[in-house]
Amino acid sequence: MQNRLNHLAIIMDGNGRWAQNRGLSRIEGHKKGADTVRNITIFCSQNDVRYLTLYAFSTENWKRPKEEVDFLMKLFYVYLKQELKTYLKYKIRFKVIGNKEGLSKKLQDTIQFVEDKTKHFEGLTQVLAINYGSRDEIIRAVQKLNEKDIEINEENFNNCLDTADMPDVDLLIRTSGEIRLSNYLLWQLAYAEMHFTNTYFPDFNSSELEEIIIDFQHRNRRFGKI
Ligand code: FPP
Repeated sequence: MQNRLNHLAIIMDGNGRWAQNRGLSRIEGHKKGADTVRNITIFCSQNDVRYLTLYAFSTENWKRPKEEVDFLMKLFYVYLKQELKTYLKYKIRFKVIGNKEGLSKKLQDTIQFVEDKTKHFEGLTQVLAINYGSRDEIIRAVQKLNEKDIEINEENFNNCLDTADMPDVDLLIRTSGEIRLSNYLLWQLAYAEMHFTNTYFPDFNSSELEEIIIDFQHRNRRFGKI
């Protein structure tokens, strides 16, 4: 029996190095990365993946130069405005995880608008992690449990995470050759399979993704059993 891929998570790394290797500014790498996001999202929606969670901006990424941070925030805004037609065409639900309060009002409003317009779709959900850090998410979940005086157990804790309505991650991919988790979905990755590729994210494409998925489908997942 093949493993079913319900939830794919990707750490989209290597935009900066992709650009620098070509003598371009890092910003060009992020722009090309946005094209990759579109291509792999459409691929996932056509290949029965239910959740695609993409690490777009971490709670630590604010420490980058202001110019790059400003560019990324603008890119998310422009991307969302443009992509609404893609979400509607392919019936993709859109959702953001992370601490939205840290984002500009304009970006928060756009996120809310696109989430509302696509909330009835039942195929793929594309989840962007923006201003996301797993430790921050865990602390916010504990605060919610505490404020509402809810009993602490796995189910209640899970229900207070940003990913409350989502299944655990089945497969994590990180591009660019780095082999670490960088504060991404630490709770949700408990039993995930992992794949690390040397490809820089702007060069990542659906044919490489397809090969990785086929490999995943044949892995022996035991979940602690024998
Ligand atoms: C990591 O590469 C990438 C990011 C911090 C930003 C991710 C953003 C995109 C892929 C842009 C488009 C996304 C959307 C949703 C429109 P890096 O800059 O750390 O690369 P480096 O490690 O080579 O410097």
